[in-house]
Amino acid sequence: MKYKFLQLIILVLIYSACNEPANPPIHPDEWIISGAENSHPKKIAESGIIVCKDCHGGYEKNDYFGGTSGVSCYECHAGGPSGHPAWSEWMNKDSDLFHGIAADTRGLDGCRICHGDDLTGGIVEMSCNLCHAY
Ligand code: HEC
Ligand code: HEC
Ligand code: HEC
Ligand code: HEC
Repeated sequence: MKYKFLQLIILVLIYSACNEPANPPIHPDEWIISGAENSHPKKIAESGIIVCKDCHGGYEKNDYFGGTSGVSCYECHAGGPSGHPAWSEWMNKDSDLFHGIAADTRGLDGCRICHGDDLTGGIVEMSCNLCHAY
């Protein structure tokens, strides 16, 4: 009886050791849920994207190809770290994915969240004035 009990304890110990998570999750739940309070676009609106580079990129300026995390921004976004569609669509007046249409549908306030109240760069440091004289 005593022996059986010991066996049980050992089994429980082995079981819990195997189920120890290797690493706690880095990001919160809802990280990739559109519109969620803990989504990464919400976080980016506060922090910008440079902080993501530590784990998702390398030293080169535009390297968001995965880095130590092994998760590239391009896995889900054709436009990479911008989270926007591919440049060839985003800049194409004839495309359904044209940013002018996005600005109309979402409203400029939707763009200001990241590009700044005056649209001159904001937290993501990408100014509309680069191409527009707003
Ligand atoms: C300290 C390192 C670290 C930083 C900083 C970091 N990440 Fe990550 N990220 C990871 C790792 C590791 C994974 C893969 C494991 C995981 O999903 O937790 C990951 C996964 C992801 C994923 C995929 C999640 C999924 O469910 O498929 C997204 C999206 C992401 N990160 C976005 C970002 C953004 C945006 C930033 C900057 C605001 C950022 N990360 C900053 C380490 C980091
Ligand atoms: C596993 C898929 C996945 C990965 C990997 C991923 N994202 Fe996203 N991202 C999403 C989803 C889903 C949305 C929400 C799209 C929506 O709301 O229409 C989003 C939205 C965004 C937006 C907002 C774009 C906009 O037009 O408002 C930004 C910025 C963004 N992601 C940046 C990043 C960055 C930076 C990385 C890499 C560090 C990254 N994403 C990696 C799935 C991903
Ligand atoms: C890299 C250059 C570039 C950047 C940066 C840029 N745009 Fe544009 N945008 C264009 C081009 C090109 C057109 C098409 C203009 C045309 O020929 O009518 C356009 C058109 C537009 C239109 C349609 C109305 C119009 O003037 O034709 C809107 C709205 C717009 N952009 C909003 C924005 C906003 C908001 C930002 C910043 C968040 C931005 N753009 C950043 C290049 C850019
Ligand atoms: C959640 C944050 C976020 C929102 C909201 C957002 N952007 Fe951006 N945008 C970015 C980031 C990040 C970049 C890339 C900056 C960089 O390359 O360093 C970017 C880049 C751009 C560029 C330059 C081209 C490119 O794809 O890199 C244009 C144009 C642009 N955004 C237009 C818009 C317009 C129009 C809206 C509103 C409809 C908008 N953005 C909303 C985060 C955002």
